[in-house]
This record gives sequence, structure tokens and C-alpha cells, in this order.
Amino acid sequence: MRTTFLPYCLPLIGEEEIAEVVDSIRGGWVTTGPKVKRFEDNFARYVGAKHAIAVSSCTAGLHIALKALDIGPGDDVIVPTLTFCATANVVAHLGATPVLVDVNEHYHLSIEAAARAITCRTRAIVPVHYAGQPCDLEEVGELARRRGIEVVEDAAHAAGAEYHGRKIGTHSRAVAFSFYATKNMTTGEGGMLTTNDDRLAARMRLLSLHGMSRDAWKRYSESGSWYYEVTEPGYKCNMTDIQGALGIHQLRRLDGFIARRREIARRYAEAFGDLAELVLPDERPGRRHIYHLYPVRLAETGQRFDRAAFIQELKKANIGTSVHFIPLHRHPYYKQTYGYSRAAFPVAERLYEGLVSLPLYPRMADGDVLDVIESVRAIILTRRATHGAGGARWHTRGDTAGFRVGSEVR
Ligand SMILES: Cc1ncc(COP(=O)(O)O)c(C=O)c1O
Repeated sequence: MRTTFLPYCLPLIGEEEIAEVVDSIRGGWVTTGPKVKRFEDNFARYVGAKHAIAVSSCTAGLHIALKALDIGPGDDVIVPTLTFCATANVVAHLGATPVLVDVNEHYHLSIEAAARAITCRTRAIVPVHYAGQPCDLEEVGELARRRGIEVVEDAAHAAGAEYHGRKIGTHSRAVAFSFYATKNMTTGEGGMLTTNDDRLAARMRLLSLHGMSRDAWKRYSESGSWYYEVTEPGYKCNMTDIQGALGIHQLRRLDGFIARRREIARRYAEAFGDLAELVLPDERPGRRHIYHLYPVRLAETGQRFDRAAFIQELKKANIGTSVHFIPLHRHPYYKQTYGYSRAAFPVAERLYEGLVSLPLYPRMADGDVLDVIESVRAIILTRRATHGAGGARWHTRGDTAGFRVGSEVR
């Protein structure tokens, strides 16, 4: 057994990133400046987009993209329920209504559920590339075109992922990426918006910095000028040059990171392929999965084994895990404000019951990968030997026992 704890995720930051950050600090230009500009240009080229706008987070990116499309009070925005709260929170921030819909067996927005949820109030769909695998963009795009609504992709997990041979970043009106600490590449906190639409790009850039016509670099640098105009009350979510410094080098290494992630995913698939107790992530046709996450699902095989125990036993073996995600309709705010019930999301409910994300990141050594494989196999095979292949199914009752959720203790 491992003697040290293997965290569920750790970033991989090298000497080049560190030297670039130090250079920004020594040089004295620490807020938005030449390094953010370089990072934006490089990112736009990497995904093949006309425009890239660096922001302080993917959350901020989604917020200003929707705002730039004039989404606000009275509007509905469709969001899959199996996502991080940011995807829907930003809709609520704009005074619009996040309309949660169920997912399909691949953890992606269900096209049928989205089609059923569209009304005359619907203005946009925000599909999510869950775990780093592109969702059904063609179908989402087709549905949106037919119904005259916008698509803003939540690509928090998907920097470098591909859909029908093209990088995520240009398939919809606007695409928002995350560079949060756990993501495939990181700037600590940070995000990027991409679009091919000149007007939308200009408005999103404006909204990212108070609605001012000139950022600090354009005002305070040698070639700059002091004058600016505020054309609308924007937000304050620009990226700093310290983050940009990290981003420049993380982006250069992204393809290498992805190759390592795919290699680890392949080893997991080989090692767990014979375990009927686990449903493994698949790679769907026409997509390049970048395995930001490796969510396995405890299958309903007849084994009596709960998720909390599985997570606990992995923890005892010094392996960290996580769960992605608690469906949004289960959270008190969404349940109470919009009256969502679990019965309306049968697929997400069923998938969520058994979800566990195993560690998968480029910083893992081959020995770490082997530790995860051996621990997972040992736990499952021991359970199988104790309980047999028949009997009750995996069950997750008591998963959140002891956690207080609002006023409700489950
Ligand atoms: C699906 C999804 N969307 C949005 C976000 C928000 O990203 P950020 O932390 O950069 O705001 C996350 C972050 O984990 C996420 O997982």
C-alpha cells in the first residue's frame, strides 16, 4: 500500500512558468499587459479562433458571454443538470432563469430533454463538455439554429479537446475555458473566451474591464494614451500578466499533458476492462477526449457495495478521489427557487448515484498509476469475494450521511 497520500489532482508547473512569472514581477507589469496579449494570441491560434479574450475565470467568461448576448431578466437559458454550479449560477446572476435539463448516458446534455424545455422565453443553451469529452455539438447547434437561440459552450474541461477533427473553441457563438488549478492547463485561476464573431468579441472584451474603451496597457504603456470612455457598466474580470505568464507556458505544454492523460486513461481502461462492477468513460466517435476527469461509475451488477465505502476504502489506501458532480437540481438553491425534483432527471440521478472520479493527471508517475489500479482492483475483488456476484446492487444510501444540506440533514 502507498505510504503517502495521492491527491485527486495536482497541477504540473515547471521552471519556465516560474521564470516567466518572476519576470513579470521583476519587470513591474503585473496586471493585464503584454503577457496576457501573447497568451490570448497563442490560445486563439491553438484553437483556430479569430478572437481570444483572457478573463479571471471560466465563470466570469460564461457570465460576460451571456451578458454580451443581451441575456437578462425574463429569459431562459438551458443548462445540463450534471455540471458545476458556475454553469447555472451565472444565468441567475443575470436575472435570467437557468432551466436545468437531464443528461444522456454519456453525461452530456440530452438533446431530447433540451428540445422539450425550449419555450418562447428560451434564449440560449450552455452545453458542457463533461470530463473533457466534447458533447453533441452538431445536434446542439442544429437545435439552436432551428429554434433561433444562441449556444455558449462551457468548455471548462475541454482546452485541447476535438470534435470532428477541430479543436473546441469555434463551433458556437462563444466558448468559455477554465484554467483553474485542477484543469488540464492552469493559470491558478483564469479563463478564456473564444469566438469568431468580431462584434461579440469587442463587447466581451469591453465587459471584461468595466466597459472601458482602453485597458491599462493601452493607457499607461509608452505607446498608450490616458483617454478612455465607458460605454456600458462592465465587470472587473480581466486576467493579470502573472496569470498570463503561467498560461503562455502551460499552453505550450498542453498537447504533452493531454498525451499523458490519454496514456493513463488507456492504462486504466486496460486494467479495469474486466471488472463488471465499473462503468468506464468511453471515447465517442468523432471526438478526442482529453480526460480532464476520469469518472468511473459503480455499476448495478448485483454487488452490494456503496459509493461512500468505495471512496473511504480508497482513502484508506491513500488514494484521493472526487465526485463530479452533485446534479444542480439537488442543491437547495435550485431545488427551492425553481422547484426542481429528482424525478425530473432520471438519467442524471441514476448516473450520479455511482460516480467517482479517480486521480488522473500528468504529474502522476507510473508508480502512482499502478497504485490506483492495484487499489481499485483489490477493493472490488475483495468485495466480490465477500459478497459474491449476486445479491443487492451497489447502493449509495448514506452517501451524504452527516452532511448538513441547508436545513435538511441527510
Ligand atoms: C463544468 C465547469 N464549468 C465552469 C467551471 C468554472 O470554472 P472557473 O473555476 O474557471 O470559474 C468549472 C470549474 O470547475 C467547471 O467544472
